[in-house]
Amino acid sequence: MKTRYKVLLALAGILLLFVLFVQIGGNKKFDAPYPEITAGTDPEIIARGEYLVFGPAHCATCHVPMDKIMAVEEGLKIPLSGGWEVAIPPGTLRAPNLTPDPETGIGNRTDGELARTLRSGIGHDGRYIMPVMPYSQMSDADLTAIISYLRSQPAVKNPMKPTQYSFLGKALIAFGMLKPTPPAEQPPADVPRDAGTAYGRYMATAVANCMGCHTEMDLMSGQFTKPHFSGGFVFEPDAFSQGYGFVSPNLTPHPEYGIMTTWTAETFISRMRAGRVYKGSPMPWGALSRMDSTDSQAIFAFLQSLDPIDNKIEKIVYAPGEEMK
Ligand code: HEC
Ligand code: HEC
Repeated sequence: MKTRYKVLLALAGILLLFVLFVQIGGNKKFDAPYPEITAGTDPEIIARGEYLVFGPAHCATCHVPMDKIMAVEEGLKIPLSGGWEVAIPPGTLRAPNLTPDPETGIGNRTDGELARTLRSGIGHDGRYIMPVMPYSQMSDADLTAIISYLRSQPAVKNPMKPTQYSFLGKALIAFGMLKPTPPAEQPPADVPRDAGTAYGRYMATAVANCMGCHTEMDLMSGQFTKPHFSGGFVFEPDAFSQGYGFVSPNLTPHPEYGIMTTWTAETFISRMRAGRVYKGSPMPWGALSRMDSTDSQAIFAFLQSLDPIDNKIEKIVYAPGEEMK
């Protein structure tokens, strides 16, 4: 055989091994201990769960059919039968049915499996889940409330296609660049609800994800590249944004570059209540507009207590077709 063919054959062999490695390694299973969470039927706990699901924790903005998202945004409480879908380079992610249906929903999932997904980003079957649900520091009490609420909904049968990783996504998983992250600290058992900064920090970082969206991030590594809450996360146009692009504003009390520089607690509370201004904004305004005033007040007090960060956000809304900086 000519050397040229030998080289080609060797290259083809290497390519085949690479593809096999990615196809097998991309379905890698992960493990982490199951949190000790037990759902219950106490109406007060279920009510707290319902408040979190449709309000600050905004699970309902993703876990409903695509054509119901605006209805939920406007305040309709429907069973979380799944359906939201987003196509990003690592794959097509699909938010599943969270009603108690045993076949297509969570009827056969244990409390531990559900809690572990939220704490560590591992599916019930051990698969890696992209960090679209940053609730790893949610308290035991709030996790219990949410799971108790999920179990109290009527069961809805809604078979759905599962999340599908692309070749790129599988390669990132196979090579260990995408992997579940355990909670950075021991999550709290409970956080007392009052208008103070401790509860505000908890809501803004562990429940409502203000931090995840209002901090600049390197999307390949998932690492924050600027101080927390200083804005600059870029949201490229997608199916939901109607062609608009967004960059999140700076929420720190910087006299020039903070978006809330002149705001009082009252301004903040009424701004949150007023809800959506830009139709295609990724911020879950509907859900967050239903936060009670204690929650809003606590979040504002916490944001005001941050160091002012001089991160200038040039522009927040980009029209369809406009180049984003
Ligand atoms: C930004 C959208 C979004 C939000 C908000 C969200 N989820 Fe999800 N969720 C998803 C997607 C997408 C998946 C599918 C991930 C996958 O299969 O890789 C998912 C998967 C799940 C799963 C299934 C894990 C498994 O074992 O297969 C559970 C349980 C879950 N979410 C619960 C919740 C709860 C509870 C909340 C609120 C506290 C919530 N989610 C908020 C998008 C979201
Ligand atoms: C999914 C991403 C996302 C989440 C979660 C999110 N935001 Fe935003 N936020 C944005 C984007 C993008 C904008 C700019 C577009 C707009 O105003 O809707 C914005 C705008 C704002 C504004 C400016 C409003 C104005 O009138 O100019 C404030 C204040 C704000 N967010 C506070 C918060 C707080 C507090 C939380 C948590 C309780 C939060 N955001 C959660 C993405 C997010």
